[in-house]
Amino acid sequence: MDAFRIVGGHPLRGTVRISGSKNAALPILFSSLLGGEFTLRNVPCLRDIRTTLSLLRQLGAHTEHLDPPATSPSEWTGTISISDRQTPDYEAPYDLVRTMRASVLCLGPLLARKRRARVSLPGGCLIGARPIDMHLKAFEKMGARITIHHGYIDAETDGLVGAEIALPYPTVTGTENILMAAVLARGTTTISNAAEEPEVADLAHFLMARGARISGAGTSTLRIEGVEALCETGYKIMFDRIEAGTFLVGAALLGDSVRIEGVDPAPLASILDVLLAMGAEPRIEEEAITLGAIRKPVGTSVRTLPYPGFPTDMQAQILPLMATASGPSSMIETVFENRFTHVMEMNRMGAEIEIHGSQALVRGGSRLEGAIVMASDLRASAGLVLAGLVAEGETEIKRVYHIDRGYEAIERKLELLGARIKRVQEDQP
Ligand code: EPZ
Repeated sequence: MDAFRIVGGHPLRGTVRISGSKNAALPILFSSLLGGEFTLRNVPCLRDIRTTLSLLRQLGAHTEHLDPPATSPSEWTGTISISDRQTPDYEAPYDLVRTMRASVLCLGPLLARKRRARVSLPGGCLIGARPIDMHLKAFEKMGARITIHHGYIDAETDGLVGAEIALPYPTVTGTENILMAAVLARGTTTISNAAEEPEVADLAHFLMARGARISGAGTSTLRIEGVEALCETGYKIMFDRIEAGTFLVGAALLGDSVRIEGVDPAPLASILDVLLAMGAEPRIEEEAITLGAIRKPVGTSVRTLPYPGFPTDMQAQILPLMATASGPSSMIETVFENRFTHVMEMNRMGAEIEIHGSQALVRGGSRLEGAIVMASDLRASAGLVLAGLVAEGETEIKRVYHIDRGYEAIERKLELLGARIKRVQEDQP
C-alpha cells in the first residue's frame, strides 16, 4: 500500500492549478445512463472517476478518452466522450458500490431510462450511517416500486411521473438522483429544500445544455419539466472547490505567496470567511486567489452546514490551522455523525483537540510534530497531509489510497510548490 512521507516546515510558493470537481463530475457521468452522447472537459484523473467509468461500461455505456497526449504514457486526458448504447443491463453490483457510495447515483437515471434498477444497498461508512431513504421515498412518489432483499435495492416502474418532492434535509446526491430521474419523467417535478451545492447546480446546467427543462438551478427549489430525450453537448466540469480550499489552508499555514488558479471565488466564500476570521489576507481576482501564511493565526468557531455554509468536506483540513493558531477554536460537525476520526491522529502529532459529541474543542497554540499516522477517509487524509506539512520533522501517512479517490496528483502539486512530500510503499525504509 502507498504512504506519503512528508518533511514538514518547508514554505509553499508558486502557482497551483485546481482540477475539475470530483463531486460534480460523478453525477454528470452517471447522467450518461439517461442516453445519448456528450463530451466532458476538465474531468479529474481520480480513482472514483475510474470506478464510475467502469460501472458505466458494465451498464452499457461506451467511454472514450479523447486526444491522448503523445508525450504521456497515461491514457488520461481530462476529456471524455461518452455514449449510452441502451443495453438491457441495470445492475450496480456490491463490489462496485462498496468501493464507492456515489454509485447510488445510477438509480435515478436507470429508472428513468430503463425503468428498472438493481443497486447494492450501500452500507454505513466510517463518517456516518448515510442512509438513502430520501432518494427511495422520492422515487416511490414518482411511481417506482421498490423492494430491498439480500442487500440489494430492486426498483422498477411502468414509467416515472413528475411529483412534488419536499426533502426533509437538502441531501446532495439525493437531489442529484431525483433531478436526473425527473428529467425524463412524464410531467413536472418540483424538489423543495433541494441541496444548493454548486456541484448540484453544475449537474443542472449540464442537463440544461442537453435540452432538459429545469428552473431554479443553484437554489433550494428545482422545477423540472420532463422531456422525451436529451441532446448531444460538450461541457466543462466546474473546478473542485474542496481541492481549492485544501490548498488555501496549505497557503494559510505555510504560504510564501501561493497563487491558486482556475477557481471562481464565489463558491469559496464560506471557506474564505473562516480564513479571514483567522487573519488571512487573500488577494482575490476573477479566476485566482493568492494567499500567504497567516502571521499570527487566531482561533475561531466554525459549524459545518449544507451550502452556502462551511462544507463538512473542509472540516478536517481546517483543524491543523486551528491547532496551531493562538487561542481556542471550536468546530461543530452537523452534517455527518462520525467525522472526527482524524482528530486522534492529529493529537498524536501534538494537537490538543477534545471531542464532545459533535463538537471538537481545539486548545490552540500547539507545535505539531511529525509522526506515523493513518488516513481513514478522503478528507481526513487531506487534513493529515496539511498537518504533516506544518509539523516539525517527518510524518508518514499510511493508507493514502483514500486521498487518491478525490485529489488529483496532490503530492506532485505540493512538490511543485516546494513541499517535501513523496509517495512510498508502506514500511519502505
Ligand atoms: C455528498 O454526499 C458528497 N458526495 C460528500 O462528499 C459530502 O460530504 C456530502 O454530500 C455533504 O456535502 C458526493 O457528492 C459524491 P448527503 P451525500 O446526502 O450526498 C443524511 C467527499 O469527501 N441523509 O447530503 O452522500 C446523511 O446521512 C464526500 O467528497 C439521510 O439521512 O451526502 C448525512 O447525515 C464524502 N437520508 C446528511 O443527510 C438520505 O436519504 C447529508 O448527506 C440522504 C442523506
